[in-house]
Amino acid sequence: MTDARFMTAAITGASSGIGHALALALARPGATLHLAGRNEARLKDAADAARAKGATVRETLLDVRDVVATAVWINEAGRLDLVVANAGVSGGTGGGAGMFGEPTAQARAIFDINVTGVLNTALPAIELMRGQEPGPDGMRGRVAVIASIAAFLNMPGAPAYCASKAAIQRWAEAVDLGEARRGVRVHAICPGFVRTPMTDTNPFPMPGLMTPDYAATRILKGIEAGQRRVAFPWFLYAGARAVSMIPEGLRFALLKKAPAKKADANLQ
Ligand SMILES: NC(=O)c1ccc[n+]([C@@H]2O[C@H](COP(=O)([O-])OP(=O)(O)OC[C@H]3O[C@@H](n4cnc5c(N)ncnc54)[C@H](OP(=O)(O)O)[C@@H]3O)[C@@H](O)[C@H]2O)c1
Repeated sequence: MTDARFMTAAITGASSGIGHALALALARPGATLHLAGRNEARLKDAADAARAKGATVRETLLDVRDVVATAVWINEAGRLDLVVANAGVSGGTGGGAGMFGEPTAQARAIFDINVTGVLNTALPAIELMRGQEPGPDGMRGRVAVIASIAAFLNMPGAPAYCASKAAIQRWAEAVDLGEARRGVRVHAICPGFVRTPMTDTNPFPMPGLMTPDYAATRILKGIEAGQRRVAFPWFLYAGARAVSMIPEGLRFALLKKAPAKKADANLQ
């Protein structure tokens, strides 16, 4: 970070991957970070690393499915320049012998965490920010919702994941159009493949695979530039948009051939 922006930030899913990297990218003397996650040891690692860079850190064990606890976490933070609704899970239809389609419990968990959990975070944040004074960037606050390039594809190998990301990407962009007038921005972040525990088990090639640090830098750059949709890398995004324009019959014939993401045993 190069200026006085985002001196106070809250991040869900800060205990791993992109959330951890965002916390470190924002950590500097004078910054206050509210970091949330479920895994105590990994959350502590992230918090300690951010403290070592000079930030003041408040760490909270939080499941974003808990609507009350998530709202309390946001509302007790004080001023927030940036809230990142990052916590998410993934899973697909690939895996165990005899498995057919996406496990029911997994599909429900993906919607509960990736959609309802994001709303549980973003809605109280927007409400809080409407009452804040504008910061150095002229905005009262910014909310970033971590969607995915998967939002632009309906992959048969990850139906709930793609749909959950499409839902929050559409929601964030639509809300931003109204909220921007009141000085609150809502950004839809759509990364391609990032090397984290979420992608470590993917049994297929991942074009443009990025480090979490690169992804965090790119996300913050896009938010600072005021982009409503921060989608990267450009070639993967362009490819996904091109695929979505192929006539339906041919598109689904192609998508059916794509390898499936593995089902997540922890979500069943
Ligand atoms: N990796 C990619 O290629 C990629 C690409 C596009 C978008 N994304 C999105 O980026 C976000 C972060 O993913 P990642 O790749 O960094 O994955 P990750 O390393 O698996 O991290 C996921 C984070 O979400 C947290 N989380 C999961 N369920 C939660 C719940 N119910 N309540 C609170 N926190 C919860 C986890 O916390 P605990 O570990 O403490 O449980 C963890 O900190 C996700 O929304 C993902 O869909 C990832």
